[in-house]
Amino acid sequence: MQTSSSTIPIETTDFQPEWESKGNSGHFLEKGKIDLSHGEILYIEDLVVSFDGFKAIKGLTLDILSGELRCIIGPNGAGKTTMMDVITGKTGPRNAQVSGRVFLGQTIDLLKLKEPQIAQIGIGRKFQKPTVFENLKVWENLELARKSNKSWRVALTAKVNQDAIEDMEKTLLQIGLEKEAYIPAGELSHGQKQRLEIGMLLMQKPELLLLDEPAAGMTDEETMQLADLLNQLRGTCSIVVVEHDMEFVSALSGETGIVTVLAEGAVLAQGTMEHVKNDPAVIESYLGR
Ligand SMILES: Nc1ncnc2c1ncn2[C@@H]1O[C@H](COP(=O)(O)OP(=O)(O)O)[C@@H](O)[C@H]1O
Ligand SMILES: [Mg+2]
Repeated sequence: MQTSSSTIPIETTDFQPEWESKGNSGHFLEKGKIDLSHGEILYIEDLVVSFDGFKAIKGLTLDILSGELRCIIGPNGAGKTTMMDVITGKTGPRNAQVSGRVFLGQTIDLLKLKEPQIAQIGIGRKFQKPTVFENLKVWENLELARKSNKSWRVALTAKVNQDAIEDMEKTLLQIGLEKEAYIPAGELSHGQKQRLEIGMLLMQKPELLLLDEPAAGMTDEETMQLADLLNQLRGTCSIVVVEHDMEFVSALSGETGIVTVLAEGAVLAQGTMEHVKNDPAVIESYLGR
């Protein structure tokens, strides 16, 4: 659990001039300082990522609008997880060969930031396996997540008790665990644990939430509960969901939401679910198998 990152000033010297040249006065990366003036929260252009010569991402261009809930599908090995690794700074120029552009809003070059800094500006990520504290009660898990809010500004300005109580109540309702608040997280079902972990991310007030196969291992009922939860979050933050379960993706995208199909490290098709489902290249590479 990271507790010290909330006050880390940006030390990356090559980041500073660009930040300042755009007219931003702050020397700290801070949530709420993301420039959304062009409507995009995330902009990826011509991204190429190789590991010792093996290209996992081969010219990926993708943009996500602020407030959007975008589903990304694609066969195993398409580069979906690698893309999330790059957005969150787990993979970057320090440990892979990376070219192209990955921007948060108009001004924040994610390829120049380290993992803790990226968490600090408000990108929350959920991995496939739930990582809750099994011995702690549900509400205690949420409280721990709130305290480790990566933003010192939020932490310092919060009216501690009242805000904490309101956040807790709101989040418990959102994740549908009001009745389970007092039981140890270890006693929750798999689906409930996954929802708790999303709740823990919400307590950190993310601007962008990345979910890597959140419905994996869930029953049909749990999957639809998760879809309801994510649909409710629309507008609270921008969300990118990587998923295999097509019913789940349909429930999230509805008739008008954009679905992106990745294959072999690039966008194969993009459009409504109806559009991508009928795309011959998608049927050939993914759905038909
Ligand atoms: N750190 C790494 N080193 C070497 N190869 C990797 C690494 N990370 C991912 N890859 C390779 O990149 C390709 C894309 O993987 P991944 O992003 O996990 O795909 P997906 O999540 O779409 O299934 C795979 O062939 C995988 O083996
Ligand atoms: Mg993956």
